[in-house]
Amino acid sequence: MTQQFLSRKASCNSHGQDSSYFLGWQEYEKNAYDEIKNPSGIIQMGLAENQLSFDLLESWLAENPEAAGFKHNGASVFRELALFQDYHGMPSFKSALASFMGEIRGNKASFDPARLVLTAGATSANEILMFCVANRGEAFLIPTPYYPGFDRDLKWRTEVEIVPIHCDSSNDFQIRESALEAAYKSAMSQKLKVKGILITNPSNPLGTTMTRATLKMLLSFIADKGIHLVCDEIYSGTVFGSQNFVSIAEVLPLNHPARQRVHLVYSLSKDLGLPGFRVGAIYSYGDTVVAEATKMSSFGLVSSQTQHLLAPLLSDNKFTSSYLVENRRRLKQRQQALVRGLQNSGISCLQGNSGLFCWVNMSHLLQSPTFAGEIELWKSILYEVGLNISPGSSCHCTEPGWFRLCFANMSQNTLDVALQRIQRFVSARSSRNKTGSCATRHGFSGKLSFRKWVLRSSTAAYSSER
Ligand SMILES: Cc1ncc(COP(=O)(O)O)c(C=O)c1O
Repeated sequence: MTQQFLSRKASCNSHGQDSSYFLGWQEYEKNAYDEIKNPSGIIQMGLAENQLSFDLLESWLAENPEAAGFKHNGASVFRELALFQDYHGMPSFKSALASFMGEIRGNKASFDPARLVLTAGATSANEILMFCVANRGEAFLIPTPYYPGFDRDLKWRTEVEIVPIHCDSSNDFQIRESALEAAYKSAMSQKLKVKGILITNPSNPLGTTMTRATLKMLLSFIADKGIHLVCDEIYSGTVFGSQNFVSIAEVLPLNHPARQRVHLVYSLSKDLGLPGFRVGAIYSYGDTVVAEATKMSSFGLVSSQTQHLLAPLLSDNKFTSSYLVENRRRLKQRQQALVRGLQNSGISCLQGNSGLFCWVNMSHLLQSPTFAGEIELWKSILYEVGLNISPGSSCHCTEPGWFRLCFANMSQNTLDVALQRIQRFVSARSSRNKTGSCATRHGFSGKLSFRKWVLRSSTAAYSSER
């Protein structure tokens, strides 16, 4: 069907699918690496998936066959599940999720299941919050660099605007109060009414956590301006570094003047590695937001089958406590392997303590210190090296040369292959810079041509929306 038969929203391009973040996925899907079947294919390092602890989940499932088998105390619950679809969610699942969220935070905060709104992943949770608190043309302030999917999740259907809070490497991309004020003023000068701030803690793409002082500063700012604070804590269970994770739930005083305007977003996509199950939640301290978001959740509920499966898993404290410890241990080990491997190639990373990725500084590899230079390097890495990584510009980073590299969506062997490829590329680049010769794919010795690929990727119809 031609565009003229579609609505303005369906045919507009604010979805963000033409970003290099999504283009890389497209290229990966055309030529995916496989150790045996396609050893020269592209390795996916642009997807924040956690595949490191599936064996733990699978063992639990094997020991608890009732959960996946439509059974409860030996009796079939098939009919009940097939019919049940109340937008309030199953009480057993909501209380299990609320206590799991408390456990992740070392029980320094507790969550009332009545304040939880179940959604189809954090994607839906973030969009619902925008629909609840902002009108079309109003703005949310977001620190950069940020998760590229926010352009789609927060802006596309809601027509809410994102105004960046610029952060930079001089203080490891932490939010400065001056940057917050500058973003607010910038919105006002664009005649945009600011409705809130959205943060991701731990951060995607930085892989770092926010300090208690930063969170308190944000709370005073929103109280002062009369706006909302949305804290996307989707990576809260991935914190493996010595610096502890501080949730907004721990720093928000009971009598805080803006308490009703603070909302937390969570999902099982990262901590449990279950993005396909679409389990997310809004936890709001505002009564009206809980009520309205619950109504809006009708458009993206969590299936009763999934709730039935996960309620006993999340209620099994012996399992959840050992899972959280072991998953963090594996993430740490993997992150360290990536950091070490990159160091061997002379590439440094922002010191991270969480997440499924590293924020990597490759600015010394740029041919020109510009965003055009960054995209050129990204294409070289995608096509010559065979790695799909995410350029900082797709995360709205203000300094060229930073990239996000994911480490938890592959085997250790695949990571080793990726690191070998990077090492070869870096040494070929430095000898090329000395001799002036070019390199070919994976061998890095010959003449390169990106033109064909650039043309292909810029005209392709992109369907992937993960
Ligand atoms: C910060 C952040 N929020 C939300 C999402 C979307 O998560 P979900 O799969 O639960 O929709 C992601 C996924 O990468 C993310 O990184």
